[in-house]
Amino acid sequence: MEPGRPIKPAEGKLGVFLVGLGAVSSTFIAGVELVRRGLAKPIGSLTQMGTIRLGKRTERRVPPIRDFVPLASLDDLRFIAWDIFPDNAYEAAKRAGVLAEHHLEPVRPTLEQIEPLPGVFQQEYVKRLRGTHVKSGRNKRELAEQVKQDIADAFRTHGLSRGVMIWCGSTESYLRPGPVHASLAAFEAGLEQNAPEISPSMIYAYAALSSGIPFANGAPNLTVDIPAMVELAQSKNVPICGKDFKTGQTLMKTILAPGLKARLLGLTGWFSTNILGNRDGEVLDEPSSFKTKEESKLSVLDVIFRKDLYPELYGNYVHQVHIHYYPPRGDNKEGWDNIDIFGWLGYPMQIKINFLCRDSILAAPLVLDLALFLDLAQRAGMRGIQEWLSFYFKSPQTAESLYPEHDLFIQLMKLKNTLRYLRGEELITHLGLEYYD
Ligand SMILES: NC(=O)c1ccc[n+]([C@@H]2O[C@H](COP(=O)([O-])OP(=O)(O)OC[C@H]3O[C@@H](n4cnc5c(N)ncnc54)[C@H](O)[C@@H]3O)[C@@H](O)[C@H]2O)c1
Repeated sequence: MEPGRPIKPAEGKLGVFLVGLGAVSSTFIAGVELVRRGLAKPIGSLTQMGTIRLGKRTERRVPPIRDFVPLASLDDLRFIAWDIFPDNAYEAAKRAGVLAEHHLEPVRPTLEQIEPLPGVFQQEYVKRLRGTHVKSGRNKRELAEQVKQDIADAFRTHGLSRGVMIWCGSTESYLRPGPVHASLAAFEAGLEQNAPEISPSMIYAYAALSSGIPFANGAPNLTVDIPAMVELAQSKNVPICGKDFKTGQTLMKTILAPGLKARLLGLTGWFSTNILGNRDGEVLDEPSSFKTKEESKLSVLDVIFRKDLYPELYGNYVHQVHIHYYPPRGDNKEGWDNIDIFGWLGYPMQIKINFLCRDSILAAPLVLDLALFLDLAQRAGMRGIQEWLSFYFKSPQTAESLYPEHDLFIQLMKLKNTLRYLRGEELITHLGLEYYD
């Protein structure tokens, strides 16, 4: 066994800084509070319910992940949020309509105390929302300074020893990386000059990283996926990851597509559509926000199927993704997939999926895992892009020269091997010849 990497202990309180106090954030906070009190189970969370196999299968060592690596305890989490509307976490949860009364009432007083700080907002980045609870400043640098001040104040008032920031805000309009994103110097000049290509999410991320706080991006916005932020994260020794939580339909895609590919079944088309009625759905109903989401959702299949290596099987498929805002559904999204495949001698077949999911119920455990793993990464001295957290994202952030790994099972293996590496345990290759020698 190798010595592993030195990891600082998870002592003291961990501030979880949430940008956006909407459906996902409020479901996450309420869930953690219920779990802490023993009133519900953290289903879907790898850090709380997952195990990890160590050594040979004959050794039968399979500890819970949370006993294997030192993670912050749920009792030590403190929640701080920003939003462009003043609703507290209880009001936000009521409005989102995800959790039932019997889950909200026991934690109501705690949720009511979580009031969002005024947000950094620019209407052109989320055209469907008109924020009323927003910061003002002379330029974007001043707004970043205000967010840094909010972070410093929270450290003092909550007595925090560490923090992590997670973007759970609305999806911003589509943005391509440009010169202002190309280096930290260009970005900082852009903050001063109010460059229009610097979106609000980038201002929060800049404030977090400059304050030494890791950042995860739950939406498909560019945010930290630009050279300027990678440079800042490297120079401040801070981990970053993103983007776009992998939940409903895309989760299903990255479970199913690797299986079809493994059996070399061909694909002629994958048609996906959704109806969704929450505020996220309303924001995504606007074409420039949807474009950001669409890019993120479309990239997945191309990387898994590798048409460059398998032109006869995957050279020519049609992939479409649609989202329809349909208010009666609220957070309970319904997704349909029609998959046209072909097998032996080219005979066609079809697969239909009808997933009646709950978006925020699927996203909340990801927020928890990301908060705890990013904090772990920082205590282990890992900095910059954390590719091992790809498991959680639709568009995983990678080094510039790499294509992202989308296959959920490869992502999980990468995550668990990273934990083994941190603890100096043998990496698991699944070769297994030694059992037969
Ligand atoms: N739930 C899922 O399954 C899922 C999956 C992938 C990605 N996401 C993304 O996660 C994000 C949150 O989803 P949600 O369902 O909670 O949406 P939501 O609309 O309920 O919450 C988003 C909140 O962000 C706030 N906001 C917008 N711009 C802000 C800003 N600049 N500063 C501070 N607050 C701001 C909004 O007022 C709103 O309260 C969305 O971008 C969504 O696309 C969600």
